[in-house]
Amino acid sequence: MCGIVGYIGSRPALPILMGGLHRLEYRGYDSAGVAFFQEGRIDVVKRKGRLSNLEGALRGQFGDDLSSGGIRLGIAHTRWATHGAPSDENSHPHLSASGRIAVVHNGIIENYLEIKRSLTTLGYRFVSETDTEVVAHLIEHHFTTDACRDLLSAVLRTLGEIEGSYALGVLCADDPDSFIAARKDSPLVVGLGDHGNFIASDIPAILEHTREVLILEDKEVAVLRADGVRVMDTLGRPVDRRPMHVDWDIESAEKGGYEHFMMKEIHEEPRAVRDTVAPRIHGGGIRLDDISLTAEDVARIQRIQIIACGTANHAGHVARHAIESLCRIPVDVDVASEFRYRDPIVDGRTLAIVISQSGETLDTMAAMREAKRRGARTFAIVNVVGSSIAREADDVLYTMAGPEIAVASTKAYNTQLAAVYLLTFRLAVLLGRMTEAECAIWTGKLLALPESLERILSDREVLQRFAYEHFNARSVFFIGRGLDFALSMEGSLKLKEISYIHSEAYAGGELKHGTIALIEEGTLVVCPLTQTSLLDKMIGNIREVKARGAVVLGIACDSAPKVDDVCDTVFRIPDVDPLLAPLLAVTPMQLFAYYVAVNKGCDVDKPRNLAKSVTVE
Ligand code: F6R
Repeated sequence: MCGIVGYIGSRPALPILMGGLHRLEYRGYDSAGVAFFQEGRIDVVKRKGRLSNLEGALRGQFGDDLSSGGIRLGIAHTRWATHGAPSDENSHPHLSASGRIAVVHNGIIENYLEIKRSLTTLGYRFVSETDTEVVAHLIEHHFTTDACRDLLSAVLRTLGEIEGSYALGVLCADDPDSFIAARKDSPLVVGLGDHGNFIASDIPAILEHTREVLILEDKEVAVLRADGVRVMDTLGRPVDRRPMHVDWDIESAEKGGYEHFMMKEIHEEPRAVRDTVAPRIHGGGIRLDDISLTAEDVARIQRIQIIACGTANHAGHVARHAIESLCRIPVDVDVASEFRYRDPIVDGRTLAIVISQSGETLDTMAAMREAKRRGARTFAIVNVVGSSIAREADDVLYTMAGPEIAVASTKAYNTQLAAVYLLTFRLAVLLGRMTEAECAIWTGKLLALPESLERILSDREVLQRFAYEHFNARSVFFIGRGLDFALSMEGSLKLKEISYIHSEAYAGGELKHGTIALIEEGTLVVCPLTQTSLLDKMIGNIREVKARGAVVLGIACDSAPKVDDVCDTVFRIPDVDPLLAPLLAVTPMQLFAYYVAVNKGCDVDKPRNLAKSVTVE
């Protein structure tokens, strides 16, 4: 999500670090900072906003030539806020209490509140709202009070105590000849150069200096010196890692070696879903620390109004099923631009749930204000921390998708669903409709989803082949029942927006009321078949379209019976509770749309007529 660069060597460090941050700029960020070693101490310069703000601050200190300071060691960071709004204080690097240890971090420390509490009772003071700051203090605590012999022992001990995901760079004023890097569930590479060594969260950040990289694996630690690198596990045992030669150009390196950002982002879904759910699940229960909704507030809610646009609106349709079935509260879903003008029935007993990736969509924002004006309490599910919708909503539950660059939304949708499920289970517990034990069963199922997504991604060739055979289709229908219909809307939108093929989503049972007239020899029909209780009915609908010549792609769970007999091709997904199935079954639809668009030669990442953030009405 955020970006990291680090350097130690014989060349001036600041130009290398700033060059690396510029290379990470395409990902979007809200603040940036550097920590560097100079005259026996660590200096930190960090600024909210664009990189030019940081550059300006550095030039104020060093003049126009950033190589003038004689600095040979430093770590740098661009931040995409997760804990705490974008601000100078929340920017990285973070310093320990004495200012002698600096840390940059990507990922999420899940137990940071517990650590923060215990360090606070020991007298540590925190200056930011971030989860990262606890790492700096904890390393210092071990370094100074727990008789850890050196920085490395203090870092290893800290890694044994933090939970969650991390790519870390650690600098210590007492050890100016080295710095330390570590990773778990967040990418980090070590670059081996002729004049020094590097760390980077993304290869483009260091590609102009070296093409020899060590890809750190989970729970590995590297100690970097100007003349060499040692890699070990988190117990300090040496690990033998061979460098890999990278021959990508900068552009493909930015895309992580994928041809398009969209494909890169689809591959980030397992990580994004894990980051959205895992930090909020503790002992089977759900903890939404920043949410102020109490059991009394929830008991007052008489109806829920979901407001969103496009993909986020489709996530809203899944939310309606989930909330109605588990909480038994009536839910309406509106597209934001319609909601505003239809004189909606909303009052003080309405909870308005607003869903938005960017947090800046004007229609959604205006609709949220309208709901608020009519007395509703507002609850936003948003990806961009500190965005307008996040700031104005009464409560915010952030999705942890990270920056989404491709115009077509992919990982944002999966994480919106993950957030929706967390909220639904929490509401159900607060309403007394779900016991803590039942909640633990649901959260266990949620935690299993990232692994299932991994399998779907590794089986993608089936979809690639099917797309190759059918990319010339003139019109594609997506049909489903129940949650599969909600999901079909998203599958259809994905296909039309990037491949420009006409497509419609229909409820399976509704076809015969008119639309079936459009089905003819060779018409392509995509059918999600994840709703076990509706499977026989859907098989009936598939027979109806097959009888008129349709070609059918089914998306079904491993153990779904009979579907091979009626579909032309079946893409199997791991068995999953039907309520959670859209989060998995959307991914084959995204992949299918992607492969069709690539075969047609479309500009996948920047489809015609579309913009990533729609800030006009
Ligand atoms: C589709 C897509 C759009 C957005 C919609 C809402 O792939 O990206 O339909 O989902 O414009 O945007 P956000 O979620 O930023 O409010």
